[in-house]
Amino acid sequence: MNKENLKILILGSGGREHTLAKVCAESPLVQEVLIAPGNGGMEQEFRTLSIPVEENEKIVQTAKAESIDLVVVGPEVPLCNGVVDELNKAGILAYGPDSQCARLEGSKAFSKDFLARHNIPTAEYGNFSEVEPAIQYLQSCSLPVVVKASGLAAGKGVIICNSKEEAETEVKQMLSGNSFGISGSEVVIEEFLEGEEASLHLICSGEEYVTLPMSQDHKKVGEGDTGPNTGGMGAYAPTSLVSEEMLAAYEKSIVRPTLAGLREEGMNFCGTLYIGLMLTKTGPKVLEFNVRFGDPETQVILPLVDQDLVPILLASAKGESLPQKLKIKNKFAMVVVLASKGYPGSYPKGETIAAPDSLPSSTLLIHAGTAANETGGVVSCAGRVLGAVGTGDSLNEAQTAAYKLCEAVEFPSKYYRKDIGHREFSRL
Ligand code: AMP
Ligand code: GLY
Repeated sequence: MNKENLKILILGSGGREHTLAKVCAESPLVQEVLIAPGNGGMEQEFRTLSIPVEENEKIVQTAKAESIDLVVVGPEVPLCNGVVDELNKAGILAYGPDSQCARLEGSKAFSKDFLARHNIPTAEYGNFSEVEPAIQYLQSCSLPVVVKASGLAAGKGVIICNSKEEAETEVKQMLSGNSFGISGSEVVIEEFLEGEEASLHLICSGEEYVTLPMSQDHKKVGEGDTGPNTGGMGAYAPTSLVSEEMLAAYEKSIVRPTLAGLREEGMNFCGTLYIGLMLTKTGPKVLEFNVRFGDPETQVILPLVDQDLVPILLASAKGESLPQKLKIKNKFAMVVVLASKGYPGSYPKGETIAAPDSLPSSTLLIHAGTAANETGGVVSCAGRVLGAVGTGDSLNEAQTAAYKLCEAVEFPSKYYRKDIGHREFSRL
């Protein structure tokens, strides 16, 4: 039996963490949800603590001082920094993988070698920490070719190169530390894959796992998937791109070999494993592993879960058994990201946000890049400002609800894509 009156601390400050906080707060097991550091919008709903997610020692001290029962880690940086290892050493339960397992995201070179060792389908690749062999390898690659900084680069470390010269320049820039600092000290050169992308999220407890609904993100800033890559401009779930049969096949060829392979190598993966898949003509291939929930995917997959998520997070954190399946609502969800015009380039900050006082039950307004001003108002402070989430009995209904909310929220530089879900709508 799980204890009641739990105190949960969420680490992070984006839309993913706001969604996690809302979901945890709904649990009858939970007395209080705290967030560190949180953001301006979250402050109006939850108690926030101004602790940077990079400071393991302060996080451990605070979790002790606040008698936190479970820390839920949102972003990859603290996971790779070993915050879960430190919390566990101090006897505090934490949801998320330890630093050994977090290398699946923290080092693309490690994850590619892992995939190769376990015969899990992925793009052909080479890992390099010296310029000469990298350039030699490039000679054998066809175009376009993908050059990646191996370390964490906040989603910016992947460059698709259309010429060998461009690829050579990128490799040199990365290896010299000029483009991504230490994260570029090793590079992955990879075959370019064609197909549609899908996000597969699992909650894991060692070799046991439950799947969450398949979702699709929209990484490009512009309509029709044009312009530069962003952290994600919108998402929807479930996607008809992956049928139940296909998912069962992916579990066999990708999920189970991954968790079993980790275990074989002495790693017990607990927490979220988010597998970025490219569905190519020759089958699904792993584009990347993430060791945390996707943002903005979280905003659409968690509202579809039809049971208390807290016991599942607790079981994963303890390495205990998980149910075989999660109960999922027979519904659809869409999130449209309200960004500051100019993002992912430069954009204005500090703009006052006006939002409706009450929202219909089919919507959620998720705060991502907001701050509180001196007068208690909420202002924009990042590129991705808010997430407008709509749910409904069809994707159309979810879309209508999400876009109505987009219109009801105002700030001067508000920008959003009008075509979230376009691939799904053209399939249907
Ligand atoms: P990653 O951080 O490795 O997921 O890469 C970020 C994005 O770059 C992916 O979501 C894809 O859109 C794109 N990408 C990464 N690797 C490849 C590849 N081998 N072929 C085509 N696109 C890729
Ligand atoms: N939505 C992409 C990511 O969270 O990495």
